[in-house]
Amino acid sequence: LITPVILSGGSGTRLWPVSTDERPKQFLNLTGSLSMFQLTLERCQDTSLFDLPIIVGGAKHADLAEQQMGEIGAEVQAHILEPCARNTAPAIALAALACRRPQNLLLVMPSDHVIKDVPAFQEAIRQSVSLAKARWLVTFGIEPRSAETGYGYIQQGEPVIGSSNSFAAQRFVEKPNHSNAEKMLAEGGYYWNAGIFLFRADTYLEAMAQHAPEMLQAAKNAMEKAARDQTRIEPNESSFANAPSDSIDYAIMEKAEKVAVTPINPGWSDVGSWDSLFEISQSDDQSNVTFGDVVAVESKDNLIHSDGLEITTFGLENLIIVASGKKVMILPKGQSQNVRKIVTARRNTD
Ligand code: GDD
Ligand code: MG
Repeated sequence: LITPVILSGGSGTRLWPVSTDERPKQFLNLTGSLSMFQLTLERCQDTSLFDLPIIVGGAKHADLAEQQMGEIGAEVQAHILEPCARNTAPAIALAALACRRPQNLLLVMPSDHVIKDVPAFQEAIRQSVSLAKARWLVTFGIEPRSAETGYGYIQQGEPVIGSSNSFAAQRFVEKPNHSNAEKMLAEGGYYWNAGIFLFRADTYLEAMAQHAPEMLQAAKNAMEKAARDQTRIEPNESSFANAPSDSIDYAIMEKAEKVAVTPINPGWSDVGSWDSLFEISQSDDQSNVTFGDVVAVESKDNLIHSDGLEITTFGLENLIIVASGKKVMILPKGQSQNVRKIVTARRNTD
């Protein structure tokens, strides 16, 4: 059985002002009645394929995460509470150190994604099991649709002998600048990294020993001195704080040798920004996507989100308008990667 590892410690800044420090985007129900965290838990309920999951997230959101697990009756093997955020590479190391046996397979999943075709997703996982057992770090590749700069890119190499549908990864490029992204798109043979990984726990820890030894040491120390209470594991704060902060993509995947990619097409979207939420949401006959009490008159191609305020527009096109509590944010569509800048500007004046 595969052990799902669900990463739920991100801050989701780009979906401000709805996503906040208190309730980051993975805990919001932006796409339906369940949060993306709950949808992720539901994707790994198939007991013919999966063991109980390990959740890794911020200590600050422990109660919120457990409340959401309770709402859907999800059981977990462990809930690891990070005392401080050190990005995904150390978070995954905590899960690898906590799992029952070092040769167990881990399926690392972000909790900010939408996957429409779960059977296709599970099929790609099943096809990749033999590779992961043979000590490959397996990534999942999405056919790129545009020169996105917020993703990792994986260049397809030779087919892996003995696998039905996977390739060696020639190169892994995390978050390229725009011109490099365009080059890769024009050249072809690249996939977007879906942010989902399958590997043996010990394969990951060995790659870490080679490419990020300080990080591994900090995670080991933090787990040795962890406080445990039923399924909750609280790694030691001062040890974990020593881990350099870096993502699995930069710290491990760009450097590791035995990386494979399995192409998948499971209706995957990263709900990373307001623009991506617009793309995956049902629009009305004027191509507006609206949430809450919104009336858009002679307006088209807008995303308008309100959780309380009554919003009425006339003659507007191609805007993102988001109201949450006392906060209102307005920007042109296509610019939502810049929400980080807005948040910084707002913090500096508060
Ligand atoms: N536990 C924990 N701790 N989880 C974290 C932390 C942390 O410190 N930081 C981020 N996460 C979680 C987020 O909640 C999210 O579910 C996942 O890890 C990925 O982090 P993101 O911050 O969303 O990464 P990204 O979207 O910029 O990039 C990654 O995903 C892309 C696809 O969505 C990379 O893997 C890219 O290569 C990939 O293309
Ligand atoms: Mg993301």
